[in-house]
Amino acid sequence: MTASPDQPAPMTFTAAPPLAGAIAVPGDKSISHRSLMLSALAVGESRIEGLLEGEDVLATADAMRAMGADIRREEDGIWHVHGVGVGGLLQPQTALEMGNSGTSTRLLMGLIASHAITVTFTGDASLSKRPMARVTEPLSRMGASFTTSPDERLPLTMRGLCPAVPLDYRLPVASAQVKSAILLAGLNAPGITRIVEPIPTRDHSERMLKGFGADLNVETQSDGARIITLRGEAELKPQSIMVPGDPSSAAFPMVAALLVPGSRITIMNVGLNATRAGLIELLRAMGGDIVIENPREVGGEPVGDLTVSASSLKGIEPDPALTPSMVDEYPVAFVAAALAEGRSVFRGLEELRVKESDRITTMAEGLRAIGVTVEELEDGLIIDGSGGALLAGGGPIATKLDHRIAMSFAVAGLVSKSGVAIDDMRPVATSFPGFTALLHALGAIA
Ligand code: S3P
Repeated sequence: MTASPDQPAPMTFTAAPPLAGAIAVPGDKSISHRSLMLSALAVGESRIEGLLEGEDVLATADAMRAMGADIRREEDGIWHVHGVGVGGLLQPQTALEMGNSGTSTRLLMGLIASHAITVTFTGDASLSKRPMARVTEPLSRMGASFTTSPDERLPLTMRGLCPAVPLDYRLPVASAQVKSAILLAGLNAPGITRIVEPIPTRDHSERMLKGFGADLNVETQSDGARIITLRGEAELKPQSIMVPGDPSSAAFPMVAALLVPGSRITIMNVGLNATRAGLIELLRAMGGDIVIENPREVGGEPVGDLTVSASSLKGIEPDPALTPSMVDEYPVAFVAAALAEGRSVFRGLEELRVKESDRITTMAEGLRAIGVTVEELEDGLIIDGSGGALLAGGGPIATKLDHRIAMSFAVAGLVSKSGVAIDDMRPVATSFPGFTALLHALGAIA
């Protein structure tokens, strides 16, 4: 892979021998963003071990620095953050460049909403197409004001309000980013911010806010809905944080090991938070041999080592209720379905259309280009699996600035006759630096 930032980095992945070995994947992206943001709001020095050093998280670090936090990486790989205190964010001198990162953008919009500063956000072509109304709407109710590009897109400029108005809000879309943006805004608002979450999403913000000493409560109702209350004007105490391996990154070697005959690998230290573990459930239901060993708790999050062995998979019609717990894993789950015996029907996935790319259309087009029979639905895909036979292969696949599309088709290439060409592997650096080196370590690529 050529590493020039200005030039696309095309790469072709070809049929692999059995994968073997023990690996670790980089730190969890969601937890890494939150570690930096909350450390930057605590008074005193926090320490972060295992931080994901991908472009998205580095964009968050740069933004927090621009608003006054002191953030340093020591040679031993540990990050040290001196925070400014809740309410202490400073006016940045230039626009915040968010690159490809929707999580940075939406969560920072929350933080800024309750500070009296004016901030402009810019992003790459993918991020500039993504909807921001889902956060500008509740944050406006808290007192923030926004000037956006048409359809509430980036670039946008916002002005926060201090004191902000605490909000009582029912989430209209199952989104951890929206929930987290409101909670972060509520941190510096007087009184109680209350969020009703009808469909639970990843709860890293809640866990970490509690860990930093915020007064936060979660109540689960009999119908599964969650009510989160946070007392504002919080004081956060610095923490020492261990970031577990990202289950969304582990997904790629996991599916590769299930699909490449004769493989058996172990992925160490993978986050197993139930709000993120849907893919393991899905793959097991398809017949995947995945064993969780050494379950433990690290930094307030459940973690384990996964041993994955090649398996014959069968098609599946997953319950759409699984969606939030594997929302980022569908692209690679579609690749698993393409190799399964029989038909898989995925529904209830409309949120996939507003990720880094429209992941329903991008995956349908890409799978078709490598010989898979697939039908695109408004809210999902129907995939007819090969029953374990190698896919034809082809490409180049248009990854549309979407890291998970690139990695999903890399996995497909490992089980293809003629290889799968990817137009550009650069986006992988947003979440999974070292992805190709890791496939190399497993023996998947020469
Ligand atoms: C994330 C939440 C999810 C996920 C994204 C990270 C987070 O987005 O897709 O990669 O860290 O909160 P939505 O909230 O839009 O579902």
